[in-house]
Amino acid sequence: MPDNVSRAFAPATVSNLTCGFDLLGFAIEKPGDTVGARLTESPGVTIAKITGDGGLLPRDPAKNTAGVAARALLETLGLDREVGVALELQKGLPGASGLGSSAASAVAAIVATAALIEAEATDQDKLRCAIEAERIACGTAHADNVAPSLFGGLVLVRGKGGSRVDRLAVPERLFCAVIRPHVEIRTEAARAVLPENVSRSEAVTQAGNLAALVVGLLRDDLELVASALVDVIAEPRRVDAVPGFDAARRAGLATGALGVGLSGSGPSIFAFTEGRGAAGKTGEAMATAVLDAADVISDVYSSPVGSPGARLVADPVR
Ligand code: HSE
Repeated sequence: MPDNVSRAFAPATVSNLTCGFDLLGFAIEKPGDTVGARLTESPGVTIAKITGDGGLLPRDPAKNTAGVAARALLETLGLDREVGVALELQKGLPGASGLGSSAASAVAAIVATAALIEAEATDQDKLRCAIEAERIACGTAHADNVAPSLFGGLVLVRGKGGSRVDRLAVPERLFCAVIRPHVEIRTEAARAVLPENVSRSEAVTQAGNLAALVVGLLRDDLELVASALVDVIAEPRRVDAVPGFDAARRAGLATGALGVGLSGSGPSIFAFTEGRGAAGKTGEAMATAVLDAADVISDVYSSPVGSPGARLVADPVR
């Protein structure tokens, strides 16, 4: 792309955090997606180029979350008939990985486009446009990936369409290991296995765990955090589709991790640890366990829990 380009990076995210289904998510340092945006003569949004996706993503802006998000932003600002934007998307994270891939593309496109046209878009405008893109990608407008990718940190999202976002304090010594087994699970399919209704005892247990997790984070009480990292609603119904999950959980806990769970709808798996060194060891142990149990290799990442969100960058972030 030529020089008159605005470029933004948006990080991958871990959502749910076990007991916070559709409510909690946090940004990790890397990987993430980079989107470059430049002005074109004809109004509307086009996708000029996508790299890093193996040719899999739609180039039609109406079907690609980056395109949908940028278009939604122009519409929100009343500029869709006046301004033309071409996007160049560099995928740093694979789709159907449980790491908020569609969300990162949408968020990076919004931040790059807003900077390009020097728009006075509010955070709420940007969030709404990103959620709209998520709805196109997954069939539901859940905000637990787009909100942390946009704002950074660890966030609680609530309300219709994720309209209320609260950032939670996170103990500085809290880190995460994340492994991404090389298989794909589509969020839409992973949501289809979930029941419409849950039992009273499941609801009570989940609410208790979620409350304990939030209190544990705010009080810097990692023992309480560890006791709360249990999902009795979504994860038990999803893990059969995740190769090596049980082995990864056992291996992660054996290294001293505070808890292990699915990242979003999987197949990625996260663990909370005390300290970055522990996160590195836990990640390697979980990846080895998945390889041994299911013959699937994994990428391994470690990060503080709640890294910075989307930002403008000079060059694509690799
Ligand atoms: N909260 C969502 C789910 C995240 O678990 O379906 C998916 O990206």
